[in-house]
Amino acid sequence: MGELVATESLLIWDWLAFAVRWLHVITAIAWIGSSFYFIALDLGLRRDGDDLGDADGDEWQVHGGGFYHIRKYLVAPAEMPEHLTWFKWESYWTWLSGFAMLMIVYWFGGELYLLDQSKTDLALWQGVLISGLSLVIGWVVYDFLCKSPLGENPTMLMLLLFVLLVVMGYCYTLVFTGRAMMLHLGAFTATIMTANVAHVIMPNQRIVVADLKAGRKPDPKYGKIAKLRSTHNNYLTLPVIFLMLSNHYPLAFASQYNWVIAALVFLMGVTIRHYFNSMHARKGKPSWTIAVTVLLFFVIIWLSKAPLEQLSLEDEEARALTPQEQVFASADGFEDVTDIVLGRCSMCHSREPFYDGIRIAPKNVLLETPSEIAKHATQIYLHAGRTVAMPPANVTFIEPEERAAIRAWFEAAQRG
Ligand code: HEC
Repeated sequence: MGELVATESLLIWDWLAFAVRWLHVITAIAWIGSSFYFIALDLGLRRDGDDLGDADGDEWQVHGGGFYHIRKYLVAPAEMPEHLTWFKWESYWTWLSGFAMLMIVYWFGGELYLLDQSKTDLALWQGVLISGLSLVIGWVVYDFLCKSPLGENPTMLMLLLFVLLVVMGYCYTLVFTGRAMMLHLGAFTATIMTANVAHVIMPNQRIVVADLKAGRKPDPKYGKIAKLRSTHNNYLTLPVIFLMLSNHYPLAFASQYNWVIAALVFLMGVTIRHYFNSMHARKGKPSWTIAVTVLLFFVIIWLSKAPLEQLSLEDEEARALTPQEQVFASADGFEDVTDIVLGRCSMCHSREPFYDGIRIAPKNVLLETPSEIAKHATQIYLHAGRTVAMPPANVTFIEPEERAAIRAWFEAAQRG
């Protein structure tokens, strides 16, 4: 019974992770979609119509079987409209579901993904503390910069924001694995973006609404402050998506220069957005931005050739096992499973793979030593014991009995 509960809860946990990821992607699509829509709308407004009244600009659009006539009032119309649609839950839910993912993968799954053992002796709880606190500190520093006199100089502010992001990326590399570093830099940036919505854009909007209701003329400064923050969000969107997806590409996250790659991606975010912003504002298509983006991408490819230093085979074999790894290494059947994994998986999942066409360990998953096998026990169970996801297309001819042996070993360890 205990065994059943343990393995079933593992399956539920894995499905929960999938469900939260699903939610996260959906809410992110909704947030980014509406944000792109409004940026394009805003930039494309025409200000030369003769029936504008006291509106600042208008635009005609056609979509899904109807025509839309949209007007923008700056900072607000003369009277409070009866119906008003707000856009905020897309952003809040993206952050909440993203934070849940971060906890599932990097806090609860921290043994595997958070701290880089070749760089630090920190305990997992200390890593978790750094992970959580860094997100808060990032917002505090950024918000302070925006509210300081520097806030008057948008270009200077953008430059400082860039420096803050690069420094943060580098600091993360001092303790975190490559994956965790890229992901946390993405979360750090996305926290700034959502906090911009929650703590600046929305409150300012509410002041304007309150003024309207009270029959006062709203101060245009509130619109201006909100605009500055949403410009930052605009330029940060694309890099955040890159950082979140980078987890699936070891060349991006497991390179020695992963923090430089992240820095260049932030620049690409600016060049790509500049192209589209110019286009939507009908100011032409600045082709130099395409050239610079492609150039930056080639530099990234080149940088990715320097692999992240990881524990050498000797050091890995010599290191002490964590208590959790110890449970799997001492469970019945571990030796057989080690033989199976070395025979069926290591040709791809090693420091120097010798399977044709595989040049670096897929997803950076190394399965060369008993310690690494104990470390990846859950993954091995899910990918090769419970399912036939690995080896891909069963290219190394793993037998059903071998999969059964993996299941029996893992479940024995769970029984304790
Ligand atoms: C022919 C080469 C090859 C062999 C042999 C192989 N793998 Fe993989 N493995 C891959 C590739 C390629 C990926 C990345 C798949 C993807 O991108 O979705 C991968 C990914 C993984 C992952 C990470 C999955 C994730 O999404 O994070 C695990 C865990 C894994 N393999 C375990 C194993 C185990 C256990 C074995 C042996 C039973 C094995 N692999 C054998 C090529 C191989």
